[in-house]
Amino acid sequence: MKTIGVVIGTTDEPITEEYYSKRANTLSHLEEYDIYSDYIPYDYAIYSEIKRVGEKNGFEVIPLFGDEFTLIDANKCDYIFSVFEGVYSFMVGGLGRYNQYMNILKKTKAKVYPSQKMQEFIIKKHKYMKYLDTKGYNITPTSFINLKKYNVKTIMKFIEKNKLNQIIIKPELGAFKTGFKIINNPNEKKISEYLSKLKKEDYTNVLLQSFIEEFNKFGEIKTYWSGGKFIYAYRQRWLDGEGVFSQVEDKQLLRECKIIGKKLLEDISKDHENLIQCRIDFACCANNDKRCREFFINEIEISPTIGSEHYELYGKAYTLLANNLIKEISS
Ligand SMILES: Nc1ncnc2c1ncn2[C@@H]1O[C@H](COP(=O)(O)OP(=O)(O)O)[C@@H](O)[C@H]1O
Ligand SMILES: [Mg+2]
Repeated sequence: MKTIGVVIGTTDEPITEEYYSKRANTLSHLEEYDIYSDYIPYDYAIYSEIKRVGEKNGFEVIPLFGDEFTLIDANKCDYIFSVFEGVYSFMVGGLGRYNQYMNILKKTKAKVYPSQKMQEFIIKKHKYMKYLDTKGYNITPTSFINLKKYNVKTIMKFIEKNKLNQIIIKPELGAFKTGFKIINNPNEKKISEYLSKLKKEDYTNVLLQSFIEEFNKFGEIKTYWSGGKFIYAYRQRWLDGEGVFSQVEDKQLLRECKIIGKKLLEDISKDHENLIQCRIDFACCANNDKRCREFFINEIEISPTIGSEHYELYGKAYTLLANNLIKEISS
């Protein structure tokens, strides 16, 4: 029997009671790992669903705990599916655990989904942002800074050329807005100080962009895809540090995001590999005098958080994801 290892271990986004009651039979075995019905993070629910669907299809499905699994554990598997990915390993164990995590995925004999190369491509935001740019997708003007060898004068040139009086700096390997900072009236001193702070925290690359006022006014359109198909979308804004979610009311805009997202997935599949799941986030506004609002791609996530609320189809997304994984493995 072939074995699938699912990398899990976040403490994020618990499932709803409704979803628990629907899948109580398969979810209750999580007690073995000290996960009880009152708080089941989404990745444990995904693991459970892959186990349910996988076992029906003749696979053994086991968990691999992101913060501690070793190459020996990984090699017990024929396939590995990462839900807990590199950014989490950095959050729980710093650069040391991040490098370990990536090395295990690089060295294991198991086939890894998404592959280690793909995970690195997405985590190193500058790599996929440059890819998007060369492929002709809208992104916002971004300066990519390597903290090991940057020149603050070059950064100032970018700021002056784009006439930026308010910038944001966000590090690669950051998530949930960690390391995100707005700097008003940027100058050499303010920028150097913040970059040295990030360097001390072990970040290696950062992105610098204009602070876009409309970003939060219009909100991000987050589109979720599985098996190459659009599954659901929602709009997210921030209010007093909390995420606020709503439906995408502008149907024309959603249609446009879907067309761009589909094309991007086809490009990634051609140039890299098929993604079993992915989230593409669109934000507002790209500079275009001919249109009042033009959205650009802000971010790609290949292991996105999936709640089990309304926008995520009440947990149906877990089943779709599990089915698509088994399909890809069996193909
Ligand atoms: N250029 C920008 N201008 C204004 N706000 C931004 C900009 N880039 C990101 N943000 C805000 O910061 C949040 C986090 O940034 P994001 O690029 O999504 O990184 P991550 O989700 O990996 O932390 C976004 O949801 C958005 O609210
Ligand atoms: Mg984001």
